[in-house]
Amino acid sequence: MVSRRSTQPRLLKKPPRSFFLFGPRGVGKSTWLSQVLPHARRFDLLDSRLFLELTGRPDRLESMVGNARRGSWVCIDEVQRVPVLLNEAHRLIESRGWHFALSGSSARKLRRGGTNLLGGRAITRLLEPFVSPELGDRFDLDAAIQWGQLPLVALDSRARADVLESYVHTYLKEEVREEGLIRRVEPFIRFLEIAGLLNGEQVVASNVARDAAVPRSSVDVYFSILEDTLLCHRLPAFVPRARVREQAHSKLYWFDPGVARAAAGLLGDAVDATWRGRALETLVFHELRVHNHVSGKRRKMAFYRTRQGAEIDFVVQTAAGTGSERPSIVCIEVKHATRWDDRWEKPMRELASSGAVRMKRMFGVYRGAEVLVREGVEVLPVREFLRRLHAGQVF
Ligand SMILES: Nc1ncnc2c1ncn2[C@@H]1O[C@H](COP(=O)(O)OP(=O)(O)O)[C@@H](O)[C@H]1O
Ligand SMILES: [Mg+2]
Repeated sequence: MVSRRSTQPRLLKKPPRSFFLFGPRGVGKSTWLSQVLPHARRFDLLDSRLFLELTGRPDRLESMVGNARRGSWVCIDEVQRVPVLLNEAHRLIESRGWHFALSGSSARKLRRGGTNLLGGRAITRLLEPFVSPELGDRFDLDAAIQWGQLPLVALDSRARADVLESYVHTYLKEEVREEGLIRRVEPFIRFLEIAGLLNGEQVVASNVARDAAVPRSSVDVYFSILEDTLLCHRLPAFVPRARVREQAHSKLYWFDPGVARAAAGLLGDAVDATWRGRALETLVFHELRVHNHVSGKRRKMAFYRTRQGAEIDFVVQTAAGTGSERPSIVCIEVKHATRWDDRWEKPMRELASSGAVRMKRMFGVYRGAEVLVREGVEVLPVREFLRRLHAGQVF
């Protein structure tokens, strides 16, 4: 019997009109476009013949699409390779009434090309590695913590380390060097390893510069490359009252625990307890971000740190604090432990009773098997938390 690998459905829905689709390479952008727009006219700019043709004569796009009716869809994959095509797309949206799906790994090159991102006409959608409901029965929490959820990694366990290693190399080679994001790649390689090791930690740029032996001025540029290419996300420190200016450094989270581990050069090592803890937070943050995006909720997220140094991993702001009104928040504390310890609830309880916020919900997320209901805090096994999150029952 011939076995054909099935395509997993994704949570992201196709927007009703022209849009950009951004996401790191390998998360499934091209696959998703074929799923949701099976009849679209497709242009893949990785195809070198097409690339050369459209680079020389971008105006040929119109005749290549032909006489498609108004409302027809046109997909341009890897659009950052020929940024001038945005002008054509812009014109054809107006003159022909076509819808465009424009995908790529980052908006950075498009913005640098001085293009106007369709003058605000197109909306932006982001794709990330799989989240738990997309994998269904195939979701494996231990594997996710160690190897992450890129489609090629999550659906085929045979060559995970090789796939992740070459992922980081290809990223360096194609995304960073060929796209001309930086001039010298060696310092960036040293930086990348430090950035991998910092996954889940607060980032102090001067320390990174010292540890990676790169100029302080380069560090900011390097981080902005990681953020623009959507490999890393910043989690700011939560400040209950906007008036209070606290100088807290934001935390850095990679988009995927497996890629973070590969960047850190730790694929050959057994995953230790500290790394497991950070990797679980990375995974939960990923699931929180995807839910926030696909549900269109657009909640701000942060972490919280008390003056004594105790932390709450995630603070989701469900209503902003305006003037006299306190912000409403949901707090989530994540622990890679099979037994829950009451003390982990303390920072949430203290913030709740501080009067600075309206505490809507408090969650503990752990590796235990039981749902524990204590006063005000719901302590849930990871899977149960993720189930409720995607059912819209967390925020
Ligand atoms: N929904 C999916 N189900 C199964 N495999 C997928 C899915 N999405 C992507 N893949 C696999 O992952 C790999 C990368 O996907 P691709 O769509 O090329 O990513 P991108 O366009 O973001 O770089 C491909 O080999 C593809 O078959
Ligand atoms: Mg692609």
